[in-house]
Amino acid sequence: MEKRRVKKVHIKSYGCQMNVYDSQRMGDLLGPLGYEAVAGPEEADLIILNTCHIREKAADKVYSELGKLRLLKQERAKQGGETVIAVAGCVAQAEGEEIVRREKSVDLVFGPQTYHRLPDLLKARVATGKAVVETEFPAEDKFAHLARTLPKRGVTAFLTVQEGCDKFCSFCVVPYTRGSEFSRPVTQIEAEARALVDAGVREITLLGQNVNAYHGAGPDGEISSLAGLITHLSRIDGIERLRFTTSHPRDMSDDLIEAHAENPKLMPYLHLPIQAGSDRVLKEMNRGHRAEEYLKLIARIRKARPDIAVSGDFIVGFPGETEADFEATLAVTREVRYAGAFSFKYSPRPGTPAADRADQVPEEVKSDRLARLQALLGTQQKDFNQACLGRQMPVLLEKPGRHPGQLIGRSPYLQGVYLDAKGHAIGDMVNVTIDAVGSNALSAHIHP
Ligand code: SAH
Ligand code: SF4
Ligand code: F3S
Repeated sequence: MEKRRVKKVHIKSYGCQMNVYDSQRMGDLLGPLGYEAVAGPEEADLIILNTCHIREKAADKVYSELGKLRLLKQERAKQGGETVIAVAGCVAQAEGEEIVRREKSVDLVFGPQTYHRLPDLLKARVATGKAVVETEFPAEDKFAHLARTLPKRGVTAFLTVQEGCDKFCSFCVVPYTRGSEFSRPVTQIEAEARALVDAGVREITLLGQNVNAYHGAGPDGEISSLAGLITHLSRIDGIERLRFTTSHPRDMSDDLIEAHAENPKLMPYLHLPIQAGSDRVLKEMNRGHRAEEYLKLIARIRKARPDIAVSGDFIVGFPGETEADFEATLAVTREVRYAGAFSFKYSPRPGTPAADRADQVPEEVKSDRLARLQALLGTQQKDFNQACLGRQMPVLLEKPGRHPGQLIGRSPYLQGVYLDAKGHAIGDMVNVTIDAVGSNALSAHIHP
């Protein structure tokens, strides 16, 4: 008798951690349908690109990748093989049918709110023989459709607790691609956290486009804040560490700041984007706060947790940004002293208010400002790492290193730490002293 062939799926994630989470969930949905995950597209029967629309470059990458996949699909067809190509994520949501018009080899297009329908979409593709495009925002809760027991995971995992955004910053596509703000109920999140722990996870990063705006239904019928959710989850045995990202300065509530002082499982790391340092630019970005308020907030957070690592996001060359505005961004950066950051040139996005402005900043000015900002941020990151030299800290061991006996773990501040791990295994928490600081990681020895 012929053995039923295991089907292979390759999922490639672009963009933010929420896409990484969604890709993982798609994998979980496909497992029971007989799909096995593979690292490359060459052998795959199903290829899913989970795309990002945040900047023009991110969206362009998708079409160049689809061009390559078309050739692969044709090549396999010559040998009698069939390949299904799917475009998921934020480009799918933003462009929908347009993707199928531009790239005929695409079989499925579905947005971030419909991937739980993937098994049905695959069937519809076979039944109709036509490309299937599904970019509704369905009323049903996609999270309710996700697998209950999870296959073995690594030591760390993402868990989406909040989705979408109602803030409409004038440069940003997220409110259009992910829809309006939504918080999952606490008990549903708790069940998923427990399933992750059973699958081997020790550290969970709670995700949301505006994670600190979380306001989900609590187990007692009351609305829970993010701080409340963190308290709740930290009671689960087996969870050693909790993190959350991305936060908005407007939603940084007192109880969340307090949690950083009081909850030992909540790691001393905060990603709090400011985007720009000029109040005029912040206003035109519709960020809803001034630079001074951000600085005061950072001071309060540092008072609660003096060693906290602060990271941020920046946009340079927003329409109308002058040299003086940009210098205000540098000034704020100098004051905050970031442990890490992401910085980008402003990219006009179709459908967003700032894209239509006539006072776009020339490309070379953007490049020059980005280089200056990144030089400063790079120095600050080095300084932060350097200050860890000689310090003792707990490290959670995550994966094998390059040399025999070496493991790589993470510090509380999210730095990679290499160490000689004799007698210890992945998943262990060890106490170390930092011996050396490299450009990308620290190295350490374990205390006996
Ligand atoms: N919700 C988060 C950010 C999500 S998008 C927040 O409010 O901070 C991630 C980052 O991409 C943003 O922080 C911003 O720095 C960057 N970004 C978003 N739109 C952009 C655009 N049009 N051009 C350049 N960078 C952009
Ligand atoms: Fe985009 Fe602003 Fe919402 Fe962040 S808060 S996702 S930058 S609109
Ligand atoms: Fe990109 Fe969508 Fe995330 S646009 S940054 S993948 S929310």
